[in-house]
Amino acid sequence: MKKAVIYASTTGNTEAMANAVAEGVKESGAELVFAQASEADAAEVASCDVIILGSPAMGDEVLEDSMEDFYAGLEPSLSSKKVAVFGSYDWGDGQWLRTWTERLSAAGAVVLNGEGLKAQLTPDEAALAECKELGKIS
Ligand SMILES: Cc1cc2nc3c(=O)[nH]c(=O)nc-3n(C[C@H](O)[C@H](O)[C@H](O)COP(=O)(O)O)c2cc1C
Repeated sequence: MKKAVIYASTTGNTEAMANAVAEGVKESGAELVFAQASEADAAEVASCDVIILGSPAMGDEVLEDSMEDFYAGLEPSLSSKKVAVFGSYDWGDGQWLRTWTERLSAAGAVVLNGEGLKAQLTPDEAALAECKELGKIS
C-alpha cells in the first residue's frame, strides 16, 4: 500500500495538518510519498493507492495557486482513484473543500472523506488527531 500526502500552505497551518496526516500514514504501515504541491510529481502521485491532498482556502473559496496547478495536472489521472482532501481556512464554511470534492467526483475519483477535513486557522490537538486518523484511511 502506497499513500501520497501532497499539500500547499502559505503560513504553515495546512502544513501542520499534512505532517499529522503523514504520521498517520506511517502508523498505518503504508509507504509514504510526501511533498509540497510545487515539488510533487503527478505521475508518481497517480500511481499511489490512496492520494491525500491538502490546500488552504484562498482567494474566494478556491485552492492555493500551487495546489490548483498540481491538481489540474493530476485530475485527468484520477478515474477510480481513492482520494481524500483536507485544509485550513478562516472565515468561510468549507466551500473550497466542497468544490474540490465535487471536482474529484466529476473526475471519477472515489472521495474517501465526505466533504473533506477542515481546521480553522492553526489546527488544535483535536484537529491534529483527526488528521492522523485521516492518514490511516484506505
Ligand atoms: C489571500 C487570502 C485569501 C483567503 N481566502 C479565504 C477564503 O476564501 N475562505 C476562508 O475560509 N479563508 C480564507 N483565507 C484564510 C486562510 O485559509 C487561513 O488563513 C488558513 O489558515 C491559511 O492556511 P495555510 O497557513 O496553510 O496557508 C484566506 C487567506 C488569505 C491570505
